[in-house]
Amino acid sequence: MPEREENTEVAGMNVLNGNGRLLEIKDLIKYYRRGRKLITALDSVSLHVDRGEAVGLVGESGCGKSTLARLVLGLGPPDRGSILFDAADMLSLRGEALRRKRKGIQIVFQDCGSVLNPRLTVGAAITEPIANFNPPDSVCLDKKLKYLFEMVGLEKSLADRFPHQLSGGQRQRVGIARALAPEPFMLVCDEPVSSLDVSVQSQIIDLFLELKKGLKLSYLFISHDLAVVNQICDRVAVMYLGRLAEVMPVTELVSGAMHPYTQALVSAIPANNPEKRGFPCLQLRGEVLPVVERRGCLFAPRCVEAQSCCYETVPCLVEISPGHSVACHNIKEKTKTS
Ligand SMILES: Nc1ncnc2c1ncn2[C@@H]1O[C@H](COP(=O)(O)OP(=O)(O)O)[C@@H](O)[C@H]1O
Ligand code: SF4
Ligand SMILES: [Mg+2]
Repeated sequence: MPEREENTEVAGMNVLNGNGRLLEIKDLIKYYRRGRKLITALDSVSLHVDRGEAVGLVGESGCGKSTLARLVLGLGPPDRGSILFDAADMLSLRGEALRRKRKGIQIVFQDCGSVLNPRLTVGAAITEPIANFNPPDSVCLDKKLKYLFEMVGLEKSLADRFPHQLSGGQRQRVGIARALAPEPFMLVCDEPVSSLDVSVQSQIIDLFLELKKGLKLSYLFISHDLAVVNQICDRVAVMYLGRLAEVMPVTELVSGAMHPYTQALVSAIPANNPEKRGFPCLQLRGEVLPVVERRGCLFAPRCVEAQSCCYETVPCLVEISPGHSVACHNIKEKTKTS
């Protein structure tokens, strides 16, 4: 994999300046209107991603992962809250300043093939975002294309093919190259390996790891698969019905998850046998229930540890050790005994 080149004129890749916070979202609330009902997709979500860090966002379908991704990418406003990216308030920036900041954060979709224009060659699809942001001359564009192909492990000879002439894994690599073209600092990846065969999945996971190291990229990596997040991410945030249940270093996921929902998700991974897990096997009871009233802990109807207060009071996210926060009324008891 080629290193991120310092000469931004030719290679065009941004050079990251220092460490520290890249993305910081605070108290994000997002409602959707469905007929006369208001759906709460995000309920006071606060999360950050540091430079060069990969943060996984996991949870069952409908918990708000894609909504969070859309807000971070600027595809619609939140109803409340703030989004800081690269030290800029993304909700108050306008015009050219906003366009320039947005360049730093790009998306990789679940099925990149479906978002590629079937009438454009993949070479043209990859260079399209470069031309949009900063049209270079054709020699420079060709150099950049070669660099991007090399970065995602594709033969340059594939540039003249159309999306339907590539395999699923190759199309996903094209999607990643297209996302990298505007020189982002961060990729928001929304289930980027879910639709791939297991063997291709592991190759794409390796590519994400190489890019993270080589380009010092940050990821907000959305997946319903904890095993995938475990391989790629530094930290993991677990969501349940629009709220964060637990945020922790990924190294603590299997041995030290504290929230009953996270423990149930970890217990469901076959490779995590009892010797590896730091807690007894917990099975998820039933399915996500429709929320009539957002009162108390929304996980309570499925929680084996629920007590009466769980149905009344919303548990706050409390930091129990550096970088590890849990939203559960039982957490004090658990930390006393662990
Ligand atoms: N455009 C929309 N209009 C109405 N409801 C929506 C819309 N997008 C998402 N939702 C609802 O918001 C909630 C969160 O959805 P989403 O963010 O897509 O979850 P996830 O990506 O975790 O599956 C779900 O209840 C979903 O039905
Ligand atoms: S707050 Fe109560 S219902 Fe919610 S996860 Fe903790 S114990 Fe279970
Ligand atoms: Mg989704």
